[in-house]
Amino acid sequence: MCGITAYRGPTAAASRARNALERLEYRGYDSAGIAARRPDGSTMHARTLSGVAALAVVVGEEPADATTAAIGHTRWATHGEVSEANAHPLEDCGGRLYVVHNGIIDNADALRARLVGAGHRFATGVDSEVIVHLVEQAQRPGVGLGDALADAVTHLSGSWAVVVLDARSGALAATAHGSPLICAEAGGGTFFASDVGAIAPEVDEFRVLEDDDVVEVDAAGPRWHRSGGSCRPRGLWPVPRTALLASTGRHRDHMGNEIDEQPLIARRVLEALSPGIADGRLWRGLGLPSLDGIDRVAVLGCGTSLHAGRAVAGVFSRLGGMPTRTLVASEVAHEVWEPRTLVIAISQSGETADVLRALDSLPPRHGTVLALTNNTSSTLARRSDAVIDCLAGPKVGVAATKTFIAQVLTGVCVALSGLAAADRGDSACVDADLRALAATPDAVAAALDTWRGPCAQLAADHARASGFLFLGRGAGLVYAAEGALKLKELSYRWAEAHPAGELKHGPLALVTTGTPVFVVDNGDPRLDVDIAEVTARGGRVIRIGERVLNVGGVALHLPRTGPSWGPLESVIPLQMFARELALRLHRNVDKPRNLAKSVTVS
Ligand code: F6R
Repeated sequence: MCGITAYRGPTAAASRARNALERLEYRGYDSAGIAARRPDGSTMHARTLSGVAALAVVVGEEPADATTAAIGHTRWATHGEVSEANAHPLEDCGGRLYVVHNGIIDNADALRARLVGAGHRFATGVDSEVIVHLVEQAQRPGVGLGDALADAVTHLSGSWAVVVLDARSGALAATAHGSPLICAEAGGGTFFASDVGAIAPEVDEFRVLEDDDVVEVDAAGPRWHRSGGSCRPRGLWPVPRTALLASTGRHRDHMGNEIDEQPLIARRVLEALSPGIADGRLWRGLGLPSLDGIDRVAVLGCGTSLHAGRAVAGVFSRLGGMPTRTLVASEVAHEVWEPRTLVIAISQSGETADVLRALDSLPPRHGTVLALTNNTSSTLARRSDAVIDCLAGPKVGVAATKTFIAQVLTGVCVALSGLAAADRGDSACVDADLRALAATPDAVAAALDTWRGPCAQLAADHARASGFLFLGRGAGLVYAAEGALKLKELSYRWAEAHPAGELKHGPLALVTTGTPVFVVDNGDPRLDVDIAEVTARGGRVIRIGERVLNVGGVALHLPRTGPSWGPLESVIPLQMFARELALRLHRNVDKPRNLAKSVTVS
């Protein structure tokens, strides 16, 4: 998704804005740009389709980078084609104002027509350009940049996080409405960013702009106002300690390093949270109501976060015997909500518009919302009754891997703690789950070791396969679904996940000689029959998670009962296979086509 950075301070503004853009690259983008004010009042304005690295050349040409105010942007096209002209910062008619914008302006066409009628010249096809012309129109002698921006956004409908640079004065003004924007001060300068990770190495604390706050920064420093009057700056948040813990490792791509980091992430989550499970301290510490007062648990999210939610839901339903639903966030609008529902909203970024809209549709006094997020200062976190940090650290690869493991384990710890606090669940089953939980980091590490070689070989064997099936049953099904999602988003090959029992009701027609069929084996004996149905048609079964005992050369398949959240470690080979196949097909595994991190449009 689009990313915003801005800085006003004594020196090196362009370099700071550019470095911050580099830290936002992980969100996915198709063009990038920067505008900065030089001390002599002239402007540097550069845009590129060749990545943020290309901006380094332009910024590097600045003598000792004496720029004092700069704005930067990474764009992920929604309105208007991907082109250098459409990249932000966008310029007004007079070459004085520059704007970066995240979000969507719903009434851009009507505004554009009006502005053109008033004599404004548009240079691009993007909705965001109306903002810079509206600010230009509002800026008159005696009207400061902040007031001009506040006036401009009264004409908009949609969502926005905006920063404007007045290249003549060097002032910045920023505002937000339904799209995240933060502000921070350090070393005599003021920063803005759409994501704390962008400025985490530079600042210790930051403030989050609430909807319609306006922050203007000039030589006197930052001033906060809201519709005409001044207001107090919002409260300070510490930069989360995980914001700087980006994965490093032996792979050239971030995704490979993020996959490898998963045993460490699993240990980090368990060290932080498992001491609070058995006595229910973790649950109570979050201020959550007793599960005795809850009639239903509803878990919602999108994509991989939804899959993590399905795994977590298994703890409430299978172990706790509680009515539990998992909801696709973008489909929640017509849901009928029961009173006494605990809503668990799962979002890595905490800014996914579909998740936030889903919360909008909750009726008043619907019950409690727990946010499970990797961004504890996000909009989701601020709008929820309780928040738990999933502790994954910054993710750079667009495809979710380590955040999935972190979300499942965080959610499982919270759910187990809730059951313990309410004294629910069969004690033998609870004990078995606690043992399985403690063993997870080792199980994840073992899966990495076991599957590294085989996954590379499997990718070589299936490089020409046009489609893949993923099957599972019960608690294994969600991992099959996650494997299919990873494979399609990275390799651009068709991948479908189905409950194995549904095969004979349709999907079996897809199976022919050599069709690759991944089966997530959670120990359900009925899978043997499902597998036989596939092999009888020539399909090639790749069974993940089976436990086999070799007795005198005869393979005995052992039954097993997994934990209530299913065989989490089975996702490791599925992630690894998707990456290996994608690399073999020369895909960019960190930035899959058409996709972006932090989907702030619904
Ligand atoms: C898939 C992936 C997406 C996200 C989804 C939700 O690899 O990354 O499916 O999981 O867009 O994003 P968050 O978790 O930020 O709400």
